[in-house]
Amino acid sequence: MKSGLITAATLLALFAFFNPQTLFSPPHLPLSKDHLHAAQILHVTGALGPESLVFDAQGGGPYTGVADGRILKWEGEDRGWTQFAVTTSNRSDCVRPFAPELEHICGRPLGLKFDKKSGDLYIADAYLGLKVVGPTGGLATEVVTEAEGQPLHFTNDMDISEDEDVIYFTDSSTMFQRRQFMLVLLSGDKSGRLMKYNKSTKEVTVLLRGLAFPNGVALSKDGSFLLVAETTTFRILQLWLHGPKAGQVNTFAVVPGFPDNVRRNSEGHFWVALHAKGSPFAKWISSNPWAGKAMLKLGLNVKQLHSSIAGGKPHAAAVKLSDKGEILEVLEDIEGKTLKFISEVEERDGKLWIASVLMPFIGIYGL
Ligand SMILES: *[C@@H]1O[C@H](CO)[C@@H](O)[C@H](O)[C@H]1NC(C)=O
Repeated sequence: MKSGLITAATLLALFAFFNPQTLFSPPHLPLSKDHLHAAQILHVTGALGPESLVFDAQGGGPYTGVADGRILKWEGEDRGWTQFAVTTSNRSDCVRPFAPELEHICGRPLGLKFDKKSGDLYIADAYLGLKVVGPTGGLATEVVTEAEGQPLHFTNDMDISEDEDVIYFTDSSTMFQRRQFMLVLLSGDKSGRLMKYNKSTKEVTVLLRGLAFPNGVALSKDGSFLLVAETTTFRILQLWLHGPKAGQVNTFAVVPGFPDNVRRNSEGHFWVALHAKGSPFAKWISSNPWAGKAMLKLGLNVKQLHSSIAGGKPHAAAVKLSDKGEILEVLEDIEGKTLKFISEVEERDGKLWIASVLMPFIGIYGL
């Protein structure tokens, strides 16, 4: 306790040497276009936090998972949002749009993907594991709840390889749950895993372990590699699946903030949504776990911790990467006029559909 306080005091003294304005402010990004404020808003009526979004094979949707545990489907202006699926039947207490303390009961659907062959919707539920529901929706059933004897603790995102009939998915931490995401970040937790689920054998294989907050997952267009966002380190990792480098992993790109979901467009480029850009302070604290742990001892609540790391004024930033990992484009809403804390960017027919884990709407931006 005492040593904790001393460390915390040292930390505060250290901050005093810096100009807090630049220390906590998100950086200016080269190439950036401050255009995302022009996005149109599609409210997710009565709900919050559409974290991931997906369209079905017929172009229906989008479908999105919200904070109260439901998966909703957009059925157009007249019908609006309808309930498509849930990940548990035990939902009598799940009546408030935002109740993190009930997430382990209500479920918290994050990554969503349709299996194009079967029309089934796969769901990475942060608390309830990998689930699946048929094309007409309803109650999702269990697919994976553990790997190598260790329960999934914070299932986050996935991609499906139709050719291989496998699902690649992330468990962000084996120590902390989704509502403790600030602990994953600040404690320097490296217990995250990337796994492969073989649909024909129902076997789960751990492909990468020791990851620092593995988050979004996306396969390359030719299926030769897989990208995994590592939120704490600002890195996008590249795991080779086929060819001479199969099994090798390298850094594909370093992005200027905390990466969330990664989605490939039809050209084979990747949109990376940044939860927030990384201020010098955020960068420093997420690469020095001793400092993060000291900060956790300051007794700040989740909201305070989040705002000190997410950096000043809420904003939105997305980065487009080539299939070689070069930054091709940066789109922002620097002032957060329309969008903030974005979690996914899905490009479709000349539009970007933009999700957010915290906001009560989806953004639609015309390219
Ligand atoms: C899935 O399992 C089958 C049967 O063992 C095997 O032939 C196939 O290669 C596996 N797929 C992948 C991608 O590991």
